[in-house]
Amino acid sequence: MSGTRKHFVTTVDELDESEHVIVDIEEREIAVFNLEGEYYGLLNYCVHQSGPACEGRLTGEVVEDEDGELSYERDGEFVCCPWHGWEFDIKSGHNLARPDEYRVPTYEIVEEGGDLYVTL
Ligand code: FES
Repeated sequence: MSGTRKHFVTTVDELDESEHVIVDIEEREIAVFNLEGEYYGLLNYCVHQSGPACEGRLTGEVVEDEDGELSYERDGEFVCCPWHGWEFDIKSGHNLARPDEYRVPTYEIVEEGGDLYVTL
């Protein structure tokens, strides 16, 4: 039988801004991040060499404008895999350096009455 199942993750009160929690659901480790009150789910699996991508520190990205000026943007919206430093966009799962080639699976997180759920 196929279909989707909704799983409780945690409560809004337990997940502060810029924090995340990693939960085991159906034999997958899924990290749920709170980025300024929006919730994002990301598989805790690095597509480089299977490291725990979501256990690393949060980072931003360096952007160069048309005049060659560098700026640091989207601070805290990327997670850096602790094994070799690959960075992934928490919102989309795309690898920062090579977004068209590498991506970590993402999951929609739904809030209902102060509880957070992921549907698989
Ligand atoms: S396993 Fe994640 S960067 Fe290598």
